Amino acid sequence: QKIYLADYTPPAYLVRHVELTFRLAPKATRVIARIQFAPNPAAHSRDFFLHGEKLKLIRASIDGTPVQPVLVDGGLTASVPDAPFVWESEVEIAPIENTALDGLYMSNGMYCTQCEPEGFRRITYYPDRPDVMAPFDVRIESDLPILLSNGNPVERGAGYAVWHDPWPKPSYLFALVAGDLVAERGAFTTMSGKDVSLAVWTRAADADKASFALGALQRSMLWDEQAYGREYDLDVFNIVAVSDFNSGAMENKGLNIFNTAAVLASPATATDMDFQRVEGVIAHEYFHNWTGNRITCRDWFQLSLKEGLTVFRDQQFTGDLHGHAVKRIRDVIKLHTRQFREDGGPLAHNVRPESFVEISNFYTGTIYEKGAEVIRMLHRLVGPVAYGEALDLYFDRLDGQAATIEDWLQVFQDATGRDLTQFKRWYQQAGTPQVSVVKEYADGILKLTLRQHTPPTPGQPDKLPLVIPVAIGLLDSEGREILATQVLEFNQPEQCFTFSGFDDAPIASLLRGFSAPVILRQENTSEELALLLAHDTDSFNRWDAGQQLARRTLAAMVIDNAPPSSTYLNAMQAMLMNEALYPALRALILSLPSEEDTAQNLALAGQIPDPDAIHAAHEALKNHLAEHLEAVLPGVYAAMQVDAPYSPEADQAGKRALANATLALISRTDHGQAAEAQYAKADNMTLTLGALASLLSIGRGNSQLAAFATHWADDKLVIDKWFALQVTEAAPRRLLNMLNRLTALDTFDWQNPNRFRSVLATISANPAGFHQADGSVYRFVADWLIRLDSVNPWTASRISAAFDGWRRYDTGRQALMRAQIERIAKAPGISREMSEMVGRMLA
Ligand code: ARG
Ligand code: ZN
Repeated sequence: QKIYLADYTPPAYLVRHVELTFRLAPKATRVIARIQFAPNPAAHSRDFFLHGEKLKLIRASIDGTPVQPVLVDGGLTASVPDAPFVWESEVEIAPIENTALDGLYMSNGMYCTQCEPEGFRRITYYPDRPDVMAPFDVRIESDLPILLSNGNPVERGAGYAVWHDPWPKPSYLFALVAGDLVAERGAFTTMSGKDVSLAVWTRAADADKASFALGALQRSMLWDEQAYGREYDLDVFNIVAVSDFNSGAMENKGLNIFNTAAVLASPATATDMDFQRVEGVIAHEYFHNWTGNRITCRDWFQLSLKEGLTVFRDQQFTGDLHGHAVKRIRDVIKLHTRQFREDGGPLAHNVRPESFVEISNFYTGTIYEKGAEVIRMLHRLVGPVAYGEALDLYFDRLDGQAATIEDWLQVFQDATGRDLTQFKRWYQQAGTPQVSVVKEYADGILKLTLRQHTPPTPGQPDKLPLVIPVAIGLLDSEGREILATQVLEFNQPEQCFTFSGFDDAPIASLLRGFSAPVILRQENTSEELALLLAHDTDSFNRWDAGQQLARRTLAAMVIDNAPPSSTYLNAMQAMLMNEALYPALRALILSLPSEEDTAQNLALAGQIPDPDAIHAAHEALKNHLAEHLEAVLPGVYAAMQVDAPYSPEADQAGKRALANATLALISRTDHGQAAEAQYAKADNMTLTLGALASLLSIGRGNSQLAAFATHWADDKLVIDKWFALQVTEAAPRRLLNMLNRLTALDTFDWQNPNRFRSVLATISANPAGFHQADGSVYRFVADWLIRLDSVNPWTASRISAAFDGWRRYDTGRQALMRAQIERIAKAPGISREMSEMVGRMLA
């Protein structure tokens, strides 16, 4: 049963007020709801329907008179007055049995909720759709010491607590937590002088890992005031860490609930990347308070309205705090491997989808990351000042409303006077546009001819031209910048741009800062790329030039068995020795594109990617780099040692990143000596894990691995890393054995999403292992997906996307993958989520 955007109708009844009472008990929680309904003047019908799933209805009444509602699939109906009325119901639910972690569930003795997108209907009967917004009063009855809900605390007595959330909100933002928790407390004074009490709640054992998150929250609150003029709007802000959680975190009003992996951090247990992720997710969820909560989505087709914008905001925040170039490069790597792949396969969909079966399958790279790219392009096209004005108008005009992508674009049109009719296609067309460039130079004039083409995607054979902002700069043959960054507005199928006044053919630095989410195909020489790598003023394009050189040499190694290009090796040496380049950037440039990137690149060139050959080429290139750089690596490695006490700040983190990147190469020639030394003396997780990864990648490190497991046995998040690292670093031919061994361990608590992902989702980081030609790993993955799907469809169906690239491979692998996808499709009792995913992959 597909749902279509075009079928949207306004709700028949609006909710004026919600009062909920929870009598918590693991097997039989009672939820009493008292809801004030009123007919919606804008509605087309008066059909009263409340969503409800897995609820046991105890009683119901309308205006105090008991009624017998008609229970139907997915909810209930009843005849109601054509005037305001009060609905009351009492239902029973069993949080302890809720293994899907959707709605009210339990994690280690603690009650918690996840309602987005459609979990609230598993808590009580309600119009569970985001365009129904209401203030909530919540009473929680339980003997547990900490009882939390949305909004402000009203009353606390023996065995109960009362909360009031004055801000009208959709049900997906409802939250409740009850447990034995401790708080890391802090405060924030808003720009208008209001004091807000902050708390990060954890289990007592994790109390020492919460202070970083608290600081991150304070930084986020300040930044949103300074950058967007957005002030917080309640007396308290609570964050709770939960170890069983399907996603990263959730922006429930005033009560954000986080996966422990996205909030807990200490130097001994978290890597520098973990620290940055925690800060970024804290910011993301906090920023949702305005972009998501105060202004929410009319329906789930508009999901990117809040997610794309909020991702863009958290990217700006991290860039402002820690440097834009490095953040941009990391985001683009993620976009390339996750979103471009999605956009080029059977799961491709619009930033604003037009139909779906299960919205939970659309929390994707396209909605989040491509959605953020679309906003970044708007920002670039109108400039930061006009962008700021547009956002002010957005908050003014739509505060308190459930809005659409049209509302958003209208605001931009009104604020900037720019016609966005063509730009809107970014929301309506799936697929990654390909842009080719032809450069001609004569008589002091450089002529660039750009062509754009978006390949067909499921249901969309023909594509229209998009508005593509192409940021460009020009360098002379010495590498001096002769034209500072300009933005070309490329909106035709084919378009020429000319630049004049040169003595010599200039070198173009195109798509600076990755100004649009497109695949750029340009025929520049390796010498030009080396020059850009050495001299471009745009750090992003320096990195990109290095990646292009690497891609080229990898492709030649795979296709023609060519030796690695000496231009690439020499350019890497020069880059590595360039102390003017900060370490974090050198580390990124030194890192090869992923094997997934190489596969995409080969597929684009019309080749059938051979995962074994790709893996072999990557290994060979790393070995060549290690030998070519052998004389200089130890010096760089030594220069990257940090004496000061650990801090996750960019300076130190950059040094550790380059230390680990050089260590990985050094290990290929020194048999792991330096890595063993680093492991022995490391006092933080970044260096510990870097050393361990280097050892495992050369087939060593068994004793360190065992010691690590013993030492961290009580820390689930660290043990997740232990699982994941072994999957990533396993030699492809040994991967299946490794997987069997890991999943047989007592500690493989497969119903815990983090633990399950640490093994099953990590397999995609080892493509040559996943694609073992006998299909054994495909079967292994399918077995586990079927098993997890029966208890937790959300997490299972997301990981099923591992099979989305099946058509890219040789007929043998295609058949093997297809067989597994079909086996999942036919498995008895498969969830709607999973069946939509496999159905789309096979279509
Ligand atoms: N809105 C959340 C976020 O900011 C994600 C919710 C994911 N959904 C879920 N069922 N866990 O990104
Ligand atoms: Zn979000």
